[in-house]
Amino acid sequence: MKDAQPSTVYLKDYRVPDYLVDSTHLHFELQPKATLVKSQLKIRRNPDAGEGLPPLLLDGVELELLSVSIDGQLVPASRYRELPEGLSIPVDKPAFVLEIHNRINPEDNTSLEGLYLSNGMYCTQCEAEGFRKITYYPDRPDVMSKFTTTIVAPRQYPVLLSNGNEIERGATEDGRQFVTWEDPFAKPAYLFALVGGDLQHVEDSYTTSSGRKVKLQIFTEAKNIGKCDHAMRSLKKAMRWDEAVYGREYDLDIFMVVAVDHFNMGAMENKGLNIFNSACVLASPETATDSSFQRIESIVGHEYFHNWSGNRVTCRDWFQLSLKEGFTVFRDAEFSADMNSRAVKRIEDVSMLRTAQFAEDAGPMSHPVRPDSYMEISNFYTLTVYEKGAEVVRMIHTLLGTEGFRKGSDLYFERHDGQAVTCEDFVVAMEDANGVDLTQFRRWYSQAGTPVLEVTDAYDEVNGNYALTVKQSCPPTPGQEEKLPFHIPLAIGLLGADGGDLPLDTSGTRQVVLQVTEAEQTFNFSGLLEKPLPSLLRGFSAPVKVRYGYSTEQLLFLMRNDADEFNRWDAGQRLAFMALEQLQQAYRREETLKLQPQLVEAYRSVLQNRDLDPALVAKMLALPSEQTLAEEAEKIDAEAIIAARRFARAALAEALKGDLLACYQRLHTDKPYSPEAADIAERSLKNACLAYLCVTEEDDALALAQVQFDSAANMTDSAAALSALVNHGDTASADAALESFYQRWQQDTQVVELWFGLQSSSAKRGTLENVRALMQHPAFELKNPNKVRAVIGGFANRNFTQFHRVDGSGFKFVAEQTIALDKLNPQIAARLVLPITRWKKYGGDLGEKMKTALQSVMDSGKLSADLYEVVSKSLV
Ligand code: TRP
Ligand code: ZN
Repeated sequence: MKDAQPSTVYLKDYRVPDYLVDSTHLHFELQPKATLVKSQLKIRRNPDAGEGLPPLLLDGVELELLSVSIDGQLVPASRYRELPEGLSIPVDKPAFVLEIHNRINPEDNTSLEGLYLSNGMYCTQCEAEGFRKITYYPDRPDVMSKFTTTIVAPRQYPVLLSNGNEIERGATEDGRQFVTWEDPFAKPAYLFALVGGDLQHVEDSYTTSSGRKVKLQIFTEAKNIGKCDHAMRSLKKAMRWDEAVYGREYDLDIFMVVAVDHFNMGAMENKGLNIFNSACVLASPETATDSSFQRIESIVGHEYFHNWSGNRVTCRDWFQLSLKEGFTVFRDAEFSADMNSRAVKRIEDVSMLRTAQFAEDAGPMSHPVRPDSYMEISNFYTLTVYEKGAEVVRMIHTLLGTEGFRKGSDLYFERHDGQAVTCEDFVVAMEDANGVDLTQFRRWYSQAGTPVLEVTDAYDEVNGNYALTVKQSCPPTPGQEEKLPFHIPLAIGLLGADGGDLPLDTSGTRQVVLQVTEAEQTFNFSGLLEKPLPSLLRGFSAPVKVRYGYSTEQLLFLMRNDADEFNRWDAGQRLAFMALEQLQQAYRREETLKLQPQLVEAYRSVLQNRDLDPALVAKMLALPSEQTLAEEAEKIDAEAIIAARRFARAALAEALKGDLLACYQRLHTDKPYSPEAADIAERSLKNACLAYLCVTEEDDALALAQVQFDSAANMTDSAAALSALVNHGDTASADAALESFYQRWQQDTQVVELWFGLQSSSAKRGTLENVRALMQHPAFELKNPNKVRAVIGGFANRNFTQFHRVDGSGFKFVAEQTIALDKLNPQIAARLVLPITRWKKYGGDLGEKMKTALQSVMDSGKLSADLYEVVSKSLV
């Protein structure tokens, strides 16, 4: 925790660094409580920074300084100044070698940034500003240096890794061993990594398209060695894909991945040495679900793709974070779409964007894709920077086409290889390669908030003209009252009465991307022989909300006929949304609830449709989540949302029982497990049916779930059955299944996390009382972010019913846990608190209770900078 009151950093204050670091030699002597770090930096005045020799300012946090020397001469302590945030050293020559010795304490480092111990394994996390917790350094991404690293450790840490190539190893006189690594690519300190432990590895190789052989290694504790195959396969696929789609080859002779149990995020793209949260890399059919197989494929891809979009070309400053993250998420999403079902991947990503990112965009921490200011950069690893940033890159792709986009990315990589650049540089490369002007498009980087498109239309049957009028607006966000119009690519098709797309011009085009650039604009189509039905925002071509007065019949028609699979799904969501809206109103008026029969019939025909991808059917059968309904609401009425959705789900289950059972039985095979897309699709539909059937709370459904639970040969089916049992009303069966599942899997960290999450996120099981009990379970560990996310996060983010209990106890609980966690891990505390920051969107008593809980965090004493930023911005 920092002593000074957190201060705000502004993009407009960016200055180039005063000094550059040509080379960095690091020497570590690993010890749990007193690791010695010696750093030797070749420093030179930056010619671009102006005249004179200002003092050298180095970042450093929680370090024990031992000595400072310049060109071999010890600098007396009276010459330099130790500051709360680092070190200031006077300079009298333009180039010199600085040597610093300091000590750090990995064992007591629970923040999981810098160097820390995880289950006895040394590891590092330096992004964004963690390197300053290792040694004094200009810890900013525009200072790029060539690193050489020597690690000395006792024999019980046989594996000692760092970035680049191993160049030397041996023994020290006192019987320890050392390994030296050299990374030939200059990099910012945030990409530095070190690992030391008793690890096993699997090894493979990959030959690049130019014929270079790369050694691939995945390191884990011995007990997990059987869980590395899927990640290895995914890595090779990603390497091939980046060559095929972007023409990008890997550049070192070795690529290493390490699995770590204690990790704040998913994974980290350190040069040549990616470090992964165990949950995002380890999998076997017996222990991991299909969604975790798919998540691993995408994260392995994501980190690998960073080698070009992030490492070879990096960020100038942290305001440019989306330069690497938005682009890399777009790359990993396309990779996953190519490896699996494109429509289903798009539906998953858009669902997440619409619930969580739209909520962020409308909440107290709303910020543009390229923020203007921050107190703590860790708080800006957000859905806006990542997912909305990816949508912005996707829109450029849509505007330029596949070939144009590739020309742009080629130019970007070629022009900026080895540099630290800005979002502006990315856009300029896209413009220059294509001869286009993206001036207005740039507003996507600077304006926050989710734009709304109001669409109306008119058809003139006399002359066959059809006019589509689009009005755009964007709600105010903190610091941005007025917004200028965005440049929005609006992909549309026009459906005729037969359900096919009508030709939109004489050449027969059936889908166009309208360039929406003004506050209000009309697009005219001629030669239409019938009044069309518009299919708007196909494939979700822009991160906006579209309002159009669709009738129930029109939505049913789109659901059946739209050529765009994404919009077929979306039509179903709109329909369900309308039905749930009616139910909420009826609930508030204390009327009897009744589900629209058209919705039931629409779901039935989806369920009976054998031509559709089963994974798409599973998505189409899912009602919008409570969180999605909350995001869409003007004011959140949690009670009505819960009642409406619960009623609709039960009514659907009851009405579709026969079809659900038939579908379940058709797909319930005993073919051997494979994580191939087609098999995943069938399991997802089968298990969606099982979940619905158990909503009926009938004995037959219970028996079905029980049989599947007892006989499942893979974790997808086993976990789905367990979840069905837990959410069925029969408590005895649920108790027994939970107990036997735990007995069987208690040695497996990832499965235990799943077991925790399944309970805490269940409306039936995850009562506050039970969640508190889970925190007392021996496998729970407040210092482990995965456990916190599973138990507390599962309750606060995925258990809408129990979290919103009217007495406000759920909010109070989250506040208490946030306060406790802030002492251990500020990054995680600042995320855990988010569900209670949106109090303004709740009217009345619940909103008041939420605000009171949030205020109690503020009043609890000294907060970390991370937590202070989120809480203070949310209380205004
Ligand atoms: N750059 C990482 C990614 O690929 C993000 C990340 C990993 C991170 N660990 C972190 C960010 C710790 C902040 C703090 O997305
Ligand atoms: Zn990333």
